[in-house]
Amino acid sequence: MGKTVIMDHALICHKIAVLRDERTGTRDFRVIAGEIATLMSYEVFRDLPTVPVKIKTPVAETEERMLSGRKPVIVPILRAGLGMTNGVLEIMPSAKVGHIGLKRNEATHEPEEYYCNLPAHMDERIAVITDPMLATGGSAVAAVRMLKDTGCTDIRFMCIIAAPEGLETLRSAHPDIDIYVGCLDKHLNENAYIVPGLGDAGDRIFGTD
Ligand code: PRP
Ligand code: URA
Repeated sequence: MGKTVIMDHALICHKIAVLRDERTGTRDFRVIAGEIATLMSYEVFRDLPTVPVKIKTPVAETEERMLSGRKPVIVPILRAGLGMTNGVLEIMPSAKVGHIGLKRNEATHEPEEYYCNLPAHMDERIAVITDPMLATGGSAVAAVRMLKDTGCTDIRFMCIIAAPEGLETLRSAHPDIDIYVGCLDKHLNENAYIVPGLGDAGDRIFGTD
């Protein structure tokens, strides 16, 4: 069973409160979504594989640990996941970036795929999916499936806000992945929007309201 980590961090709580505020404009929303992604990344990458290396400091020889293996891949779910990508790259600048395009059908709430572009050797990489919102879970379940179809086995999903319904759906569909949630909200409304949530994340990041 994979990990489910609900972030419990004063800085993340503070920044999510600012995101939720309907008065927060596009520019600030974008900056803060990126900052939250950076903070969450410390936890997401905590257990990256390392190898021992010998280092000579000006004082003595020492054995330390450095990252090993293929570069991880960050996979934003378009569009809104893009708002977290640069934040993750802040602390993992050499990561590859793949893209998955999914759009939730407004009537059925089912995700519809329109794009997929992923780097080679997915089966040897740790993949980190970014999407600010885990609502019904449909988009996340589909994105993880698309990564698994490439042979990828170490998949981590990070979102800023999750509804309990979406978290349960994602966990049941993909028990093996690790899930990182900035804040677990109360429930979905009749339009499958997260309550209290922050509205439409893509529209708020890109100013397309
Ligand atoms: C939003 C959000 C997720 C999805 C979550 O994207 O960014 O991808 O909805 O909903 P779900 O858990 O019920 O699938 P949307 O489909 O609105 O596309 P956008 O990012 O282009 O606005
Ligand atoms: N997508 C969003 O952007 N917000 C929600 O609350 C639900 C789905």
